Amino acid sequence: MRSSLCSGPFILQFILSALFILKTSLHAIASDPPLTLDYYASTCPTIFEIVRKEIECAVLSDPRNAALIVRLHFHDCFVQGCDGSVLLEDTITLQGEKKASTNRHSLKGFRIVDRIKNQLESECPGIVSCADILTIAARDAVILVGGPYWDVPLGRKDSVTASLPLAEANLPKPNEGLMSIISKFLYQGLTVTDVVALSGAHTIGMARCESFRERIYGDFEATSEKNIFSESHLNNLKSICPPLGGEDNISAMDYVTPNLFDNSYYHLLLKGEGLLNSDQELYSSVLGVQTSELVMKYAADPLAFFEQFSDSMVKMGNITNSDSFVNGEVRKNCRYVNT
Ligand code: HEM
Ligand SMILES: *[C@@H]1O[C@H](CO)[C@@H](O)[C@H](O)[C@H]1NC(C)=O
Ligand SMILES: *[C@@H]1O[C@H](CO)[C@@H](O)[C@H](O)[C@H]1NC(C)=O
Repeated sequence: MRSSLCSGPFILQFILSALFILKTSLHAIASDPPLTLDYYASTCPTIFEIVRKEIECAVLSDPRNAALIVRLHFHDCFVQGCDGSVLLEDTITLQGEKKASTNRHSLKGFRIVDRIKNQLESECPGIVSCADILTIAARDAVILVGGPYWDVPLGRKDSVTASLPLAEANLPKPNEGLMSIISKFLYQGLTVTDVVALSGAHTIGMARCESFRERIYGDFEATSEKNIFSESHLNNLKSICPPLGGEDNISAMDYVTPNLFDNSYYHLLLKGEGLLNSDQELYSSVLGVQTSELVMKYAADPLAFFEQFSDSMVKMGNITNSDSFVNGEVRKNCRYVNT
């Protein structure tokens, strides 16, 4: 039954520092053509149906796929704006972003995007940008694992460039300090509230040992409670992630409800059990007065979290790259610029 819903048999799928000021120069939001909700209404009326069907297939077959797509969208938008640059492969003439330290061995879900793109190319060829596909797919992925719905503004173009240096510079790292992470969001025109709400995406998905080793052999014991549950959870993490080796061993970021988009991530932070240093800092950092208040708010009020998350996702999706509106295109294959 699943194969009749999905676009192809599985085998085919295989083939196939505060920097506020700089913001204005890079993200000329006001002068860009605005994104609109009905951008594809006449050119590709079935767009939402097609994306939803493919994401449904992907998430039903493995809920982790929802997390992969949401993270892809985030890593796209923080580098040159939401322009599909994250999807580009290395070629002789183009250096992609896939080898950036935050992406390498880590960023996944590209085949899901390929499948959606293939479907859309047969239905409305040359119309829907890969950047827009990621935006809709991320929204649908969140809904499918129990998260909120929001309307997605559309009309992005795909870049003809990518930037490995910007991927290195702009994407936050798990062992980076809170202030540094906040400044990376401010640089994108986002706020401290957006940092805390968007980090709530870590209510789904997995992290590799490499990403949380410093945390579990560092201050995890100090931030968490001294009871048998907390202690055995930490011991379990240490067995998954020994002091040496096991780099690609993975653990759920929200071990209570790993496949459910809910606010339990914030409850974990209140218990001092955030998996990444960057997660726990939102609540435990001495510099995080404002962020810890927001953590408490979203832990207490799931609806407030859902509303802010939706808002913040739209804001993140609004990060545009003026250059891609001028020089951009609608890629035929999300992995390569058109020839
Ligand atoms: C606040 C700064 C952030 C940091 C430092 C950060 C860091 C990380 C790290 C280290 C991982 C694990 C990667 C791995 O080990 O392979 C991860 C996973 C993930 N991140 Fe973030 N992240 C941040 C914000 C966000 C935002 C804003 C979103 C989306 C709105 C997001 C969505 C995800 C998702 C869904 C996963 C799970 C992916 C999977 O299952 O493979 N993160 N993040
Ligand atoms: C996002 O952009 C759209 C159109 O470009 C605009 O209508 C909307 O207000 C923006 N939303 C946020 C939260 O910035
Ligand atoms: C990876 O994790 C498993 C437990 O999930 C553990 O048995 C194994 O030893 C770990 N790998 C390494 C190299 O430590």
